[in-house]
Amino acid sequence: MERIDKFLEENADRFLEELMDYLRIASVSADSRHRSDMQRAAKFTRDQLVQAGLDAEVVPTDGHPIVLGRSRREPDRPTVLIYGHYDVQPPEPLDEWQTPPFEPSLRDGYVYARGATDDKGQLLTHIKSVEAWTRTHGDLPVNVLFLIEGEEEVGSDNLERFLSDHCEELASDVAVISDTMQFGPDQPAITYGLRGIIACEVRLTGPNRDLHSGSFGGAVTNPATALARLLAALHDDQGRVQIPGFYDDVRPLTEQERAEWARLPFDPAAFFADLGVTDGWGEAGYSPLERCWARPTCDVNGLVSGHTGEGPKTIVPSTAVAKISCRLVPDQNPSALLKALEQFLRARLLPGLTMEIVPHHGGQPVLFDPNSPAMHAARRAIERAFGVAPVMIREGGSIPVVASFREILGVDTLLLGWGQNTDNLHSPNERFRLIDFRRGTRASAYLWPELRDALGKG
Ligand code: BES
Ligand code: MN
Ligand code: MN
Repeated sequence: MERIDKFLEENADRFLEELMDYLRIASVSADSRHRSDMQRAAKFTRDQLVQAGLDAEVVPTDGHPIVLGRSRREPDRPTVLIYGHYDVQPPEPLDEWQTPPFEPSLRDGYVYARGATDDKGQLLTHIKSVEAWTRTHGDLPVNVLFLIEGEEEVGSDNLERFLSDHCEELASDVAVISDTMQFGPDQPAITYGLRGIIACEVRLTGPNRDLHSGSFGGAVTNPATALARLLAALHDDQGRVQIPGFYDDVRPLTEQERAEWARLPFDPAAFFADLGVTDGWGEAGYSPLERCWARPTCDVNGLVSGHTGEGPKTIVPSTAVAKISCRLVPDQNPSALLKALEQFLRARLLPGLTMEIVPHHGGQPVLFDPNSPAMHAARRAIERAFGVAPVMIREGGSIPVVASFREILGVDTLLLGWGQNTDNLHSPNERFRLIDFRRGTRASAYLWPELRDALGKG
């Protein structure tokens, strides 16, 4: 390990420069204007894998390409599947960025850019740790297989098919993903559960044009008012979601989990203060961590209707649109709940309106045994790199591929997040802490021999 440590130390500046080059590519998967940037990012990813000593290729799909990388496959070694995504969220609103989103900038111990923590910076730690092994030892303790996609932020439309079509080539003993968060600035974590998601857009249409609200208001159904009524009906006064059957399959929190989470160093006042709010509101009877990690939710993600420009305009708008998503927990069924949500909305449609519902991407929740041999291997690697033992947490975000890995490939995932909740993922001024980039890379390098020993076949 000394040679590895030395290599990582000596190459740290180059690694950071390469991360900054990666971040300069505006690989926004949602925006068709960035199609050529997506190609460039895929090629950059492939070149990084090649530089790490792997065979790598860019594989076209019906959407954005998938990048694959593999080491030699030694039959007596466990195989680790490493997943990440090179696509990023759109950078808007641009005027809230202190420095432009695709011109990475180093400030107070962070690199700032869209994709810094989600997921280019985190993903690169594994590529660099493999590079360190191959350049110092000419070999790796495990077989590695990289699967890096460009459609994670838009629902991974082509990934499931790819997994089914290539399930033999992708056969592995464990998967590793760094696309989650630590528990705090100096408190690494392993995430053993993620929420799932369903999402849709609902469009109400009323009169065939915006109308004078004096001449017509009161007689026609106002789509904006109707939409507000619908959205307000989604929760009761106790913060419980009102979609029929919503909680039927929810696996209750165990007393042990509640007790363990209550011991985590979490200060609700500081949590809310950082967000600029005085308090929170959610399902009665649950703490903020419980609400985010283990309880299902329903959120309005976007809302547009009528006059949004300057000053007043007395109209009855013609349309109103809302984007809605629900975070789901084990053992809720995403497709059944999407139907239930649609029915809930349709049943409340006021007269004189039409409703169109466009379903968006979905994903299943996951929950792993926090005490598996692979989890213990990861704990040891992280403790060694960070100097602090990781805490075991669940998180509220979604990575749909994790459930697909289990269902299609039969493989469980280690979610080893090197990010921080304060890294502004999906927000302006996204960033990744430089020290997390370094210790994440070291933890990754230490992980491979730990996994060989824990899952060893020889
Ligand atoms: N890296 C995130 C998921 C994440 C965020 C996990 C925070 C844990 C904590 C991922 O890139 C993401 O944004 N996922 C989407 C999924 C959706 C597009 C299907 C999400 O959670 O909204
Ligand atoms: Mn991500
Ligand atoms: Mn994301």
